[in-house]
Amino acid sequence: MCGIVGYIGKNDCYPILIKGLHRLEYRGYDSAGIAIVHNNIINLYKSRGKVSELEKLCESKCTEGTLGIAHTRWATHGEPNDTNAHPHISQDSNIAIVHNGTIENYSVLKEALKEHGCEFQTETDTEVLVQLIEYIKDTNKCSLQSAVIEALSQVIGAYAIAVIDKNTPDTIIAARKSSPLVIGIGDDETFIASDATPFIEYTNQVVYLNDDEIAIVKRGEPLKVVKSNNEPSEIDIQTLKLSVSQLEKGGYPHFMLKEIFEQPETLGDCLRGRIVDGHIQLSGVTDNKDVFLNVNRIIIVACGTSWHAGLIGKRLIQDFARIPVEVEYASEFRYSNPVITDKDIVIAISQSGETADTLAAIQLAKQRGAFVYGVCNVVGSSIARATDSGTYIHVGPEIGVASTKAFTGQVTVLTMLATALGELRGTVDKDIVKKVAAALYRLPDLITQTLQLNESIEKLARTFTYCHNFLYLGRGYNYPSALEGALKLKEISYIHAEGYPAAEMKHGPIALIDKELPTVFIAPNDVMHEKIVSNIQQVKARGGSVISVITKGDKEIAELSDHVMAIPEVPECLSPVVASIPLQLLAYHIAVVKGCNVDMPRNLAKSVTVE
Ligand code: AGP
Repeated sequence: MCGIVGYIGKNDCYPILIKGLHRLEYRGYDSAGIAIVHNNIINLYKSRGKVSELEKLCESKCTEGTLGIAHTRWATHGEPNDTNAHPHISQDSNIAIVHNGTIENYSVLKEALKEHGCEFQTETDTEVLVQLIEYIKDTNKCSLQSAVIEALSQVIGAYAIAVIDKNTPDTIIAARKSSPLVIGIGDDETFIASDATPFIEYTNQVVYLNDDEIAIVKRGEPLKVVKSNNEPSEIDIQTLKLSVSQLEKGGYPHFMLKEIFEQPETLGDCLRGRIVDGHIQLSGVTDNKDVFLNVNRIIIVACGTSWHAGLIGKRLIQDFARIPVEVEYASEFRYSNPVITDKDIVIAISQSGETADTLAAIQLAKQRGAFVYGVCNVVGSSIARATDSGTYIHVGPEIGVASTKAFTGQVTVLTMLATALGELRGTVDKDIVKKVAAALYRLPDLITQTLQLNESIEKLARTFTYCHNFLYLGRGYNYPSALEGALKLKEISYIHAEGYPAAEMKHGPIALIDKELPTVFIAPNDVMHEKIVSNIQQVKARGGSVISVITKGDKEIAELSDHVMAIPEVPECLSPVVASIPLQLLAYHIAVVKGCNVDMPRNLAKSVTVE
């Protein structure tokens, strides 16, 4: 979703801002723009489409200057076009702003400003904010900092902003509420961005702004951060572990393929130091033993792929720790007036750590007294900081919009969490703990073996590229795998795909079965094997074609199926991780053959920071 970059320092800002925008492309956007202060003028360039379009536009323009802000926009208010793209500029062309989030009371503010003579050029909520800042600055004859603080006090909604003023060309004011903003502190230069990726080659010293904080970034002066009442805030400078190579494709044609193939390594990182002498050790559990021993119920909140991981987490926690678990879409949970007590634990799962609905669900759960545990990837993200405790999945930056390595990392962490809770509460057999720990230890190797399916799946994908619909079916631990397989396919290939519990097929979806509709069964050797065999027979009996994910050596399902993708033998609880590999590869190759933009599918954003 929208991305912000800002720079103030000793160097020309244009190349830094443009490179930064390219780094933020993965978040999803439909237009881009840049504003640079030079000779007390704000030069503003905006373009619909990709950052490369903006670069073309800027080729013949003045891009000089050492202070600027830039933006990638994912449209919310007003269609994606040059005019609605950010930055937005005030009526007198004095002040420019970039903004992520939504100003909910923008129409009320707009009407009031119109009455004071303000004219508007765009349909955006953001233009209202910049006009308001200018109006306050002019009326109150105050500094940019005071005008921004006053304007924000009138705003209802979510925002991360960076504001510049041509009359104070040595200052950027930045602020956040429910939308991420991070400041990079370099050598005589300061960066502002939605995440650290735009400036990681210049500095790894970062300050994460908290909600309701305002940063005053002045050339040649140390960073100052204040609260909304203008009181100084403490500045916590952190050192980030992120390298530029993690943000590049490393020879792969797409980030998604790179991320699929990285999984043996990323799962190794996820597991590192957490299996000790055949036991699982998670500091989030050992530090909060009493909370986990006294819990009555766990509620998992998440969206999209993370919600699918949550469904697997439910099975795992119920099986191993015998705690009742509910799984909720964060977007539904937040408005459901849920019954929550201080004996409940809410587990929030989010790769990006910035998903607005999940963040709101956490806030609600905390207000109602629950202990909130996070399962996040992005270190220092809003969700990681909003939760009481948690476990990072440590799979490195995920750039492809379609989540792959984050999903397997989430399920791996949930497996460890469930096992650790089972041990803590004495609800899981010691032999099972040993078996799961041993399988987790072997997981990177099992994924490496599974990735050998790549070539055969690439061939298989050609057969199915022109299908209009797919059905994905699984049972037990692999019902969520079916949902996730279907989501992967529809996200990147735009083929309609539905995931169902296999036994539910006979209650409706079976009507769809014909030779045009491929059904993907996730059918490894587990307790549901015989049941799923009969589900496959039901599809075959109606002329449907069947692609099955099976355990190597399973002749019975191999003979029934038209195509198989065979994965290594693995304990049932870990089969969703291994089975997800062929499903990711199938979706990827179908999308590539269809010529789709795999890493940045239409309409989708990596980090969904609006409702
Ligand atoms: C996954 O492929 C999707 N792009 C999407 O469903 C994603 O999982 C969802 O938006 C939640 O994101 P989060 O994990 O960053 O909270």
